[in-house]
Amino acid sequence: MADFSHQTVLLQEAVDLLQPGAGKVIIDGTLGGGGHSEALAARGATVIGVDRDPVALSAARARLAGYPNFSARQGNFGDVLEVCEDVLPVDGVLVDLGVSSPQLDVAERGFSFQKDGPLDMRMGDTGRTAAELIAEEDESELVRVLREYGEEPFARPIARELKRALPTRTLEAAEVVKRAVPRKAWPSKIHVATRTFQALRMAVNRELESLDSLLESLPSLLKVGGRAAVIAFHSLEDRKVKEAFRGLVGACRCPPGLPVCACGGQGDFALLTRKAIAPSDEEIATNPRARSAHLRVVEKVR
Ligand SMILES: C[S@@+](CC[C@H](N)C(=O)[O-])C[C@H]1O[C@@H](n2cnc3c(N)ncnc32)[C@H](O)[C@@H]1O
Repeated sequence: MADFSHQTVLLQEAVDLLQPGAGKVIIDGTLGGGGHSEALAARGATVIGVDRDPVALSAARARLAGYPNFSARQGNFGDVLEVCEDVLPVDGVLVDLGVSSPQLDVAERGFSFQKDGPLDMRMGDTGRTAAELIAEEDESELVRVLREYGEEPFARPIARELKRALPTRTLEAAEVVKRAVPRKAWPSKIHVATRTFQALRMAVNRELESLDSLLESLPSLLKVGGRAAVIAFHSLEDRKVKEAFRGLVGACRCPPGLPVCACGGQGDFALLTRKAIAPSDEEIATNPRARSAHLRVVEKVR
């Protein structure tokens, strides 16, 4: 726990756009190490941190113990309407998607193909592990997961080999991938198991489902003037955010069946980031994990 260090991505950019201040309530749906929460709380907002990982929660509670305007709860941001029911609607919500560095780096969490550990990959303490998912799903579902979430060109042979070997350790799973992909087709810049591990992690944690649910809840989550900021690292996630925001901004609210639109197609939200905000070169130089980050922000305007 003492060693829970995660370098916060797009800190200034996200915090500035959320306009924290005294009297505002902001939900940080991915509390992690508490980097964003600390900056929001330091600027006077009441911050409620949510994370599904109990280890992250205790680390962030310790880091932010000096802020009476900060509190934390365990939960899934996809269930934020229930988890934070007592404080809604709020002035802001932030999610900084994916895993934290400590989750990736601790072998026992089972996310790393470079360190041996149980093939777990759960961010929280409930649900199926990656080893259980491989054992329980059929081959065609594993192919879908690897293709869709990992964009893995060798999804079929890898899924077949995973079902045959049923790995229970991370290094064993990495060996399975190495066997399934012809040596000459191994990617040059990333480990051959990178895409498989990412895809399994996203399936184990139902990451896209949580994001969909959060995006759907934005209209009831935010006050008028409230803002939502999402930092995505995966193109599938960023696309979902972009499309959902576009829908909120330009959604037609006419009752179904009207022959022509009578509401002018105006939604209740305005886009504050026409193009996604990316980290500066300086940030990427000090934190290579930031390189694929995209920040998008919307405001509820009516
Ligand atoms: C990238 S880290 C957040 C880092 C944080 N912004 C900081 O500055 O320290 C992502 C965190 O979100 C959590 N998380 C991911 N998906 C979640 C979900 N659906 N519900 C709740 N927490 C989630 C992970 O457990 C992890 O701690």
